[in-house]
Order: sequence, then structure tokens, then C-alpha cells
Amino acid sequence: MTILLTGISTGIGRATAEKLLAAGHTIFGSTRKVEDFAELAAHANFTGLVFDVTDRAAIQAGIAKIKTAGPLHAVVNNAGIAVTGPLETLAEDQYRKQFEVNVFGALAVAQEALPLLHAARESGQTNVKIINVSSVSGYLSSPFTSIYSASKFAIEAITDGMRRELMPFGIDVISIAPGPVKTPIWGKGKLQTAAYEDNRYSGMLARLDTYTENANAGGLEPAVVAAAILKALEDHRPRPDQLIMKRGWMAKLVLRLPKRLQDKLIRRNLDRDRRY
Ligand SMILES: NC(=O)c1ccc[n+]([C@@H]2O[C@H](COP(=O)([O-])OP(=O)(O)OC[C@H]3O[C@@H](n4cnc5c(N)ncnc54)[C@H](OP(=O)(O)O)[C@@H]3O)[C@@H](O)[C@H]2O)c1
Repeated sequence: MTILLTGISTGIGRATAEKLLAAGHTIFGSTRKVEDFAELAAHANFTGLVFDVTDRAAIQAGIAKIKTAGPLHAVVNNAGIAVTGPLETLAEDQYRKQFEVNVFGALAVAQEALPLLHAARESGQTNVKIINVSSVSGYLSSPFTSIYSASKFAIEAITDGMRRELMPFGIDVISIAPGPVKTPIWGKGKLQTAAYEDNRYSGMLARLDTYTENANAGGLEPAVVAAAILKALEDHRPRPDQLIMKRGWMAKLVLRLPKRLQDKLIRRNLDRDRRY
């Protein structure tokens, strides 16, 4: 298969690029900086693209390079950021950025790639799809990460809606929702500490590092999520909502509880410096 995969500089995107290449697929992998795909550039089946998912013209220029390479079978929308902080004090530019990257960025990449996916179907290719990397935060909203959650809830809605719109054209759209994964994403989000400073949430700031470290320590290896993405790509009828998480059954159970009980459980975890 030929696959466009966004955000391969680190984490899940990098592990997925490596896994898909090892499985013999052809990868167009995007980063924001050219040096971030240098390690993969030597691979014969790899082409690096440079674009920020918030820059429509750059996405178009990147995707133009795929056009000449034969049919595109799949897009994996993986690029994402995690903006954290109390909703009360979060800066407007930060909460807008969360949506610009995770939601509108993913939608823009899908829109720009869809003509190629339609063309692949029309030329007789099967198993053509979009995979959106969502999160358990797209199912359950936790304090101080709820703007990130909102972006992933939006991705879940877009995934379901787009799948239903594209059904008549034989293009599948699914989401893969990991629980905590050992990647730099929460560290990269440290910019938002300003949201905790000099306000009634400042007591939380001291605990943020432990909070992040605990999420990382208990998290999955990125390769586990990469394996789930590979399977969903190769499977002709994958489950459209996949939660990839240690004790994922527990998260699903919590979701079935009354909201006030969910609140208590989440509060108890937070007191233990745990997000889930
Ligand atoms: N780690 C977790 O616990 C976890 C759990 C559930 C879901 N996820 C989701 O998994 C996906 C990958 O995250 P990760 O954990 O692997 O984090 P990561 O290592 O930080 O990777 C995120 C990737 O997205 C790229 N990116 C960020 N902003 C971008 C932009 N504006 N335009 C283009 N690319 C951009 C990053 O590039 P730069 O290096 O240039 O910033 C990086 O390549 C995200 O959608 C995330 O929400 C992560």
C-alpha cells in the first residue's frame, strides 16, 4: 500500500513509519522540519514531505508530490499536540491552536488527499481509507486536559461523519484511540504552564511533572500503537473505533457509569497524580 502519514518526527508517527516500512509499504511521511525525517530518508520506500498541518498551501505542495507516485491507498492523520491547563485560565491563542492542529489540520490533510483516494478507488484499488489518530481523551474528558479532549471528541465526530459520507464511494474512515503512550507529547505541551501560574490553580503546577511522568511510565510503547495502525491499514474491514490502551476495558466501564460517579473516580486518580 502507499500511505501518507503525518507527524513522523517522534513518538507514534515515527514508530508507525518504521513499522509500515518494515512491512513493505510505501510511505510518504510528513514532518515540520526537513532534518526530522533524515534517519528514514535512506529507505527506498520512503519519501519525506515537509508541511505544517495548519498551512494549507504547504499541505497541497506536499500532496502534489504523491500524485506522480501511483495510487494513494491511505492517509494516517497522526500529527497532533496536547495543550493542557485549566479552562478558566488557558490563553485563547493556545486553545485555538489545539483545534487548529488536531482538528482543522487533520481535516485539511483529509480534504487535500481525498481526490487521490477517490482516484485510487476509481482505478479499481480496494482497501482505501483514512485513519485518524484519536485518543482515549476522545471518549472521556479529564480536568486540565479537556481542551485536548475536546479536539479528540471532534476527531471522533469527524471520523464517524466522514465515514458515513464516504461509504458510497468505498473509502473507509476509522479512528485509533490510544491511551497513554510513552512519547514526548506532554513534555512538548509544557508551554502552557503559564495557565497555572499566579492563579488559584498554581498548586497544581508543582504536581504537573509527576502527573506527566506517571502517565508516561504507565503508558504503552509507541510500537504497540504502530502495530494497531498497521493491522487496521491491512485489514479490509477494521473496527472503526479502536481503543488501544492498557486496561482499556476499565475506561469503557467508567464511561458507562453515571457522570457524578465518573467525577469521583477521576478526582481520586488526580489525587494520586494519575490521569487515568
Ligand atoms: N502520547 C500519548 O499519550 C497519546 C495518547 C493518545 C493519542 N495520542 C495522539 O497520537 C498522535 C501522535 O502523538 P505522539 O504522542 O506520538 O506525540 P509526538 O511524539 O509529539 O508526535 C506528534 C507529531 O505531530 C507533529 N506535529 C505537531 N504539530 C504539528 C503541526 N502543526 N503540523 C505538522 N505536524 C505537527 C510533531 O512534529 P514536531 O516534532 O515538529 O512537533 C510530531 O511529529 C497525536 O495525534 C496525539 O494526540 C498520543
